[in-house]
Amino acid sequence: MATLEEPLEIGDVTVPNRLYRAPLLECAGNGPDAVETLIEDLEPAAESGVGLICQGATIVRGDGGCAAPGMTRVHDPEFVARLSRLTDRIHDHGSRIFIQLEHGGLRSMETWHAEYRSEHPDLEQLAVSDPPWQLRLLDRIGFLEYDPHVLTTAEVYELATDFGRAAARAVGAGYDGVHLAGANMGIVQQFLSPFYNRRDDEFGGSPEARLEFLAVVHDEIRDRAGEVPLMTKVPAETPAPPAPVVRRKLSLEDGVEIARRLERIGYDAVVPVQTSVVWDMSIVRGEYPDHAWDNEALHEEYDAAFGGSTRRRLVALANRVQSLQYDFEPAWNEDFCRRVRERLSIPVLAEGGIRGREEMDRLLGSSGEPEASTVSGATDDGPACDMVGMARPFYAEPRLGARLLESESTGDDPRVICESCNNCTVPQVTGAPGICRTPDVLRKRRELEHAGAYDRTEP
Ligand SMILES: Cc1cc2nc3c(=O)[nH]c(=O)nc-3n(C[C@H](O)[C@H](O)[C@H](O)COP(=O)(O)O)c2cc1C
Ligand code: SF4
Repeated sequence: MATLEEPLEIGDVTVPNRLYRAPLLECAGNGPDAVETLIEDLEPAAESGVGLICQGATIVRGDGGCAAPGMTRVHDPEFVARLSRLTDRIHDHGSRIFIQLEHGGLRSMETWHAEYRSEHPDLEQLAVSDPPWQLRLLDRIGFLEYDPHVLTTAEVYELATDFGRAAARAVGAGYDGVHLAGANMGIVQQFLSPFYNRRDDEFGGSPEARLEFLAVVHDEIRDRAGEVPLMTKVPAETPAPPAPVVRRKLSLEDGVEIARRLERIGYDAVVPVQTSVVWDMSIVRGEYPDHAWDNEALHEEYDAAFGGSTRRRLVALANRVQSLQYDFEPAWNEDFCRRVRERLSIPVLAEGGIRGREEMDRLLGSSGEPEASTVSGATDDGPACDMVGMARPFYAEPRLGARLLESESTGDDPRVICESCNNCTVPQVTGAPGICRTPDVLRKRRELEHAGAYDRTEP
């Protein structure tokens, strides 16, 4: 049972404490200001004492594969070498930084972003298999546009090699570890999920075969980047639409089994995440972002992204329905994490709706007050995880670490000021920066700043 302030080994790297910044879109892109933007976004968390910074997903190829505008690509060796300025700045504060590698596959902008599609008419979506009927139906009624290219067996190996090459470049630029975007509906999840993966080669046909892509990516990374710490998000598709709409999906037990096999393959840590099979609010549970949708100054850009005002209204309506389905729930992955941790000996990282210091202590098992609410058979005592992370609260308070880590000595129970209202998420479809956009929350942040709440007494 560890405290938040205790170090943790991930692979052969020591992380100075158990608080991490979960991967979160920085919208830095690859332009001349990209490295500076990343430093501005990520250094405050390190400065505030956060032990591990997980950079938002970066794309392993130069074309396609971005889930949202402004994602950074890591295919170009010269660009990645310049990221050493970022890793140096994080290391100056004693923190560690992992890069997250990703390819969106069927979830890429070439599926849903109307303006991007018209600017890149020849771009096909990389697909693990032909899209399932539910997605083809959305294509037929004009909600999404699919023009998929199903990867041949040789192309799957080439894609895995691109993950390995990107990891090697990142390690060369000073990153301390590699994180795979395995549970945000991108191509890794598409390989793992029976909803997407209907292949009949070595990458499909059974749960073991659906894991083969992650096994090959592991080997590519080890061959090209050495014994760098390697972790991935692990999905359980429990919040996906119910049968008969979605019959084939990953259960909680499937997720536990995937994590177990990943440990055997040689992964150094896992992040269990309950997620849907489609791109919805299951991984960002919270409120309907009315402030973001009502912002008329952005309507023109929303229309360009979604393909007109009618589609914009339909997406907003879908968002409203989802917010009822995926209402905020504190620490919503706790049960899944605990079940995984019971079966594994590598570190388990927990994120999703974690909002306060006492809650963190309880998840780490250091508060002595185990939660008695499990819904799926995990024992209800003992730690649920080895590290605790948050994402949206870092938009609201970039130097949040100071308030949480300093509280051990003061005995306070600081809670984040982020309201999980999701007003920060929708504007990002236009390429707008990832920042908190809720005036009351920003006012609270200014008050805390004036009160010195983000000043660290310990270096
Ligand atoms: C705007 C935004 C961007 C995100 N980008 C990523 C990402 O690049 N990779 C990833 O694995 N998860 C991503 N996530 C999911 C977060 O890492 C996290 O799991 C989720 O927001 C729940 O944590 P929270 O309740 O503390 O925000 C993103 C979430 C948000 C809100
Ligand atoms: S807009 Fe601000 S308060 Fe709302 S979810 Fe985003 S960071 Fe949190």
